[in-house]
Amino acid sequence: MPSVINPNVQFDGEMSVRYDCFVPKLIPDYVHLHELLVAQLGIALGKGSRILVVGAGTCTEVLTLADFDPTWTFVAVEPSAPMVSVARERIEAAGLSDRVSFHVGTLGTLKDQGPFDAATAILMMHFVPVDQKAAVFEDIAKRLKTNAPLVMVHPIGDPESDEHAPAMQAWRNHMNETLKEKADTVYANVSETLHFMSDNAQTDALSGVGFDQVVRFHTRMVFGAWVAMKG
Ligand SMILES: C[S@@+](CC[C@H](N)C(=O)[O-])C[C@H]1O[C@@H](n2cnc3c(N)ncnc32)[C@H](O)[C@@H]1O
Repeated sequence: MPSVINPNVQFDGEMSVRYDCFVPKLIPDYVHLHELLVAQLGIALGKGSRILVVGAGTCTEVLTLADFDPTWTFVAVEPSAPMVSVARERIEAAGLSDRVSFHVGTLGTLKDQGPFDAATAILMMHFVPVDQKAAVFEDIAKRLKTNAPLVMVHPIGDPESDEHAPAMQAWRNHMNETLKEKADTVYANVSETLHFMSDNAQTDALSGVGFDQVVRFHTRMVFGAWVAMKG
């Protein structure tokens, strides 16, 4: 049984300052994921859109999207105070403070009910236990306008399926290349905190709370990326 993370422990002060150097080594295609995010939201959203960013971390997705369209504004939801601290510095340095508001906490405690024009959950849903994922999807859905997209990226899979072990091994090989002697420890740590769900079960959970047109638009090793539209 994977453990449930405490964001202020796993994403503590030490991790928050090295996160932006570390994460592109850990996550295959990390940089390109944000380009794909722009591509998805760029075609879906109009001027002045408000975007809900769940699990914002140090706000890389906010910086990328804000650069694409200067009229978009953001609510960044992030439970780790140290990650928010780094995010605030980056947002301020980019001159974006008036376009981003922060909520230090999980989505359930965010007072702003929207409705938002879009939401993102980039590299965050795998921290949510399987039996709680539908509730998080529902909490996002209820804050979105009709036809608003949710874009997600995370590790996914059914650990019992034939394709799962090779996909995990490919990720492990990737870490061997990028993290060298630290790969074993990092792989053990992240494996311990991944809450896997199959793609079909995820689609069912999303459909059950009012999302339709769930489309996987990217796959790399054990990682997937999806866009789902609020019905
Ligand atoms: C791997 S980082 C991803 C950060 C950012 N989205 C990115 O693409 O770099 C995952 C973030 O999700 C946050 N997180 C973990 N559990 C969460 C939850 N239940 N709700 C919201 N955020 C959560 C963590 O604190 C962490 O900052």
